[in-house]
Amino acid sequence: INHLTPKTRREILELLVTGLKRLEYRGYDSAGVAVDAADQKDIAVLKRSGKVAALEELLQEHSIDLSVEDCVESHCGIAHTRWATHGEPSAVNSHPQRSGEDNAFVVIHNGIITNYKEVKTFLENKGYIFESQTDTEAIAKLIHHLYNQHKDYSFQELVEQVIQQLEGAFALCFKSRYFPNECVATRRGSPLLVGIKTRRRLSSDHVPIMYTNNKATRGVVPSVPRVNSHAHFQPEEEREVEYFFASDASAVIEHTNRVLYFEDDDVAHIKDGVLSIHRLSGSSTDPHQREIFTLKLELQQIMKGNYDYFMQKEIFEQPESIVNTMRGRLNFADSTVTLGGIKDYIPEIKRCRRLMLIGCGTSYHSAVATRQLLEELTELPVMVELASDFLDRNTPVFRDDVCFFISQSGETADTLMALRYCKRHGALIVGITNTVGSSICRESHCGVHINAGPEIGVASTKAYTSQFVSLVMFALVISEDRISLQKRRADIIEGLHQLDTKIRQVLALDNEVKKLAEDLYRQRSLLIMGRGYNFATCLEGALKVKELTYMHSEGIMAGELKHGPLALIDDSMPVVMIVMRDPVYTKCMNALQQVTARQGRPILICEEGDKETMAFASRCLQIPKTVDCLQGVLSVIPMQLLAYHIAVLRDCNVDCPRNLAKSVTVE
Ligand code: G6P
Repeated sequence: INHLTPKTRREILELLVTGLKRLEYRGYDSAGVAVDAADQKDIAVLKRSGKVAALEELLQEHSIDLSVEDCVESHCGIAHTRWATHGEPSAVNSHPQRSGEDNAFVVIHNGIITNYKEVKTFLENKGYIFESQTDTEAIAKLIHHLYNQHKDYSFQELVEQVIQQLEGAFALCFKSRYFPNECVATRRGSPLLVGIKTRRRLSSDHVPIMYTNNKATRGVVPSVPRVNSHAHFQPEEEREVEYFFASDASAVIEHTNRVLYFEDDDVAHIKDGVLSIHRLSGSSTDPHQREIFTLKLELQQIMKGNYDYFMQKEIFEQPESIVNTMRGRLNFADSTVTLGGIKDYIPEIKRCRRLMLIGCGTSYHSAVATRQLLEELTELPVMVELASDFLDRNTPVFRDDVCFFISQSGETADTLMALRYCKRHGALIVGITNTVGSSICRESHCGVHINAGPEIGVASTKAYTSQFVSLVMFALVISEDRISLQKRRADIIEGLHQLDTKIRQVLALDNEVKKLAEDLYRQRSLLIMGRGYNFATCLEGALKVKELTYMHSEGIMAGELKHGPLALIDDSMPVVMIVMRDPVYTKCMNALQQVTARQGRPILICEEGDKETMAFASRCLQIPKTVDCLQGVLSVIPMQLLAYHIAVLRDCNVDCPRNLAKSVTVE
């Protein structure tokens, strides 16, 4: 919503579309936009299934009022890129969703409304006719229904009413013909922030919160709370401001680095260049203001630069990103490790009953990768859990448990739900995230920012290695005063010291990996086998191959080979085996021989110069040796590169694999 520099309608559209492109990694099956038509009496809604580029084409083709180049002094526009939950990807199911043909109210939504059927039935009984299969349409129609009943209500009061009827997760942004140049946004469960751009420095870093006194009752026909105070945020010069509501900061960073993160049930209203935040009746302990943060994120960090794909850039960034994870934390000179974000909780963690590491997808694999070291250095039982399964089982959790929630985005719904579950059970909550200000960050008692920098490619790469290194550093912190472990700790610290150089050596294999990809890309399946410290690489490598290339791939625990997977082996099944000179070397060699004895022709990832092992392989990728527990950081990189090259050869969309989204904010 713009009150700063007058803009043409084209410029406003371009701004919205650029913002969508920055968010495209969150979902990309359809996109839409709503802006005021030239006379400001109508709202123009344009939507198209497919990627944001398809919407962009539609906007180019469209000559209606949008092409008018008159400058507007203030304007509110909304735009959305979708990852389908309810209803297939199509123009009618994409957002904005509307209250009716006159576009009186339009809304965009991230999340899932679980009680939408009840709301929809209620509205259908009132005569509303639904056009889409989405849950979101019920929201647009509900606000219209409430407006008809309460014409004297402000836009924000209407939204307060709406969200009391909703169950599930949402971040919502509303626009209305009845409230021109106003915008109301709110969230529960799904992330939402506002970027604030002013010509001069802001006079205050805080936005006060307005509480309404009387609690409204839930139920489809609500009673009505009214606002009784008048706090709001006023930039130095009223109206000289642009606000950008967004799901994450990458959409706004080219305009401003000043952002405010909303909390669940905040209702933010922008009117006449003034932002106000409203909540239902607060108690004396509730906060009275929200802080505006200054982000360090740079636009260049979310651009591709000279690379063809974000994923490729992120793979090649790993020598720097892991150094950023360790920066200021690892002191190589005196072998000390400090994790500022959990420092005060260390005594409590040391006394705990067990550690639980919880995450989804790649983040879960980082837990698998470090479990053994955590068990070794902490001497505590360590449980590693997929967030969804952990919740399905109603896993027993105790007050003296320490629960780690590992998440690149910090917003994954399954992980966040597991966090809240553990918090309710009184456990200590430690967040391991890459996104400052994310829900998991804010809801944790303490944590570690992995500082890998923004990760845009849907398939996670650099976040994985940084999560890995963060968990290793945690193990080092916990074992700091264990005399018997000092030699082991010193070796690991030295290994971390040299890790960036060794990652560069692995990245130099890129051409070799590409050649391997040329031989493999027509295959239907790829097995990846290993055990011990490198088992996580098998899981993560197989996940990369599946996500990016749509080829079947399976990470196999080499110890389980003889219990089933051996049946898959013949002279045509491609198998990658990871065999390092670590404590499970002999066992890996047994598995390798079992494969070759069945005419299997394994591709090896092994240590540089290990001729004895290489003799058993059809092809080898030799990687430098490091400390056993860090070897997984190096062994995963050829797998990332292999998946990448196969995807390019198979003409797959590397950064946006079909059906997937970077940040899955629905359960
Ligand atoms: C999605 C992504 C995966 C990611 C997983 C967990 O499924 O496509 O790449 O590993 O979510 O995401 P998180 O942000 O919690 O690490």
